[in-house]
Amino acid sequence: MQLYRERVESKLLSLLSSRANIASHLNEAMQYSLLNGGKRLRPILVYQACKLLCGTLEQADNAACAIEAIHSYSLVHDDLPAMDDDDLRRGKPTCHIKFDEATAILAGDALLTLAFELLSCDDSLQSPDIKLKMVQTLATASGDLGMVDGQAFDLGSVGKALTLEEMQSMHGAKTGALIRAALRLGALASNNATPDSLTALDQYGVAIGLAFQIQDDILDIEGSTEQLGKPQGSDLERDKPTYPALMGLEASKAWLEELVEQANDALSSFGEQATPLREIAQFIISRSS
Ligand code: IPE
Ligand code: IPE
Ligand code: MG
Ligand code: MG
Ligand code: MG
Repeated sequence: MQLYRERVESKLLSLLSSRANIASHLNEAMQYSLLNGGKRLRPILVYQACKLLCGTLEQADNAACAIEAIHSYSLVHDDLPAMDDDDLRRGKPTCHIKFDEATAILAGDALLTLAFELLSCDDSLQSPDIKLKMVQTLATASGDLGMVDGQAFDLGSVGKALTLEEMQSMHGAKTGALIRAALRLGALASNNATPDSLTALDQYGVAIGLAFQIQDDILDIEGSTEQLGKPQGSDLERDKPTYPALMGLEASKAWLEELVEQANDALSSFGEQATPLREIAQFIISRSS
């Protein structure tokens, strides 16, 4: 994981340092939001899925950078006063606190569009057809059929009691969609994806995507601001719809174990080759940040 984390970070740094904006604070805000730590889980999934299907790391580089750009944009906007109104992210003041709200909105916009620039100009991909499928994958996962829909539902549900089904759909969209897209992007980039491998990776992605957000909700209760690098207790304070609020902590934790089993089952056809993905599933539910 460390190797892939460092790889995507160095790609992102050289990419952003090479761009000259007429508004220098825009580039600064983009770098601030993109290069400020973070677990880099989504790029790691891109690399692992590509490697699992015998692709090279070079084939996965642009997709890894693109998904992290989308994820970082989603965090910048998620923290805005109109949304979760948080002032700490990845251990530093959030983008709108460090700069201002307009800059945070624009830096988010620019990171979002940068992702599609990266995918569409990826010279390591062998066919335009694959490139197009990757663009579609990322667009569908990020927009109103995916992450943005989940965010809208999340904000529209503040203070309301959700059913388990609603909660699952919300988590699946706001967090699961990008995690599933990361796996699909890596698989497509390998140029060796088959319908069966895509289905298996997607089933794994559904399970770890849900587990990831449940653990995020648990950490909002049990974590510390220092470890998380974001304000602990933010969900509770804003009466956000979360898994533990709905089911309680113990049931949430039991559900996590079940999801890891589901994730592992989905990988059975890959055998030993999928060990890194099994380890990632375990990491997701045991992480403390
Ligand atoms: C936080 O994502 C937002 C959610 C989708 C739960 P991460 O926990 O992956 O954030 P970073 O990238 O490591 O900061
Ligand atoms: C945010 O979920 C998910 C996205 C940004 C798409 P949260 O609001 O729970 O994320 P944190 O806890 O602020 O990182
Ligand atoms: Mg939020
Ligand atoms: Mg938030
Ligand atoms: Mg959260």
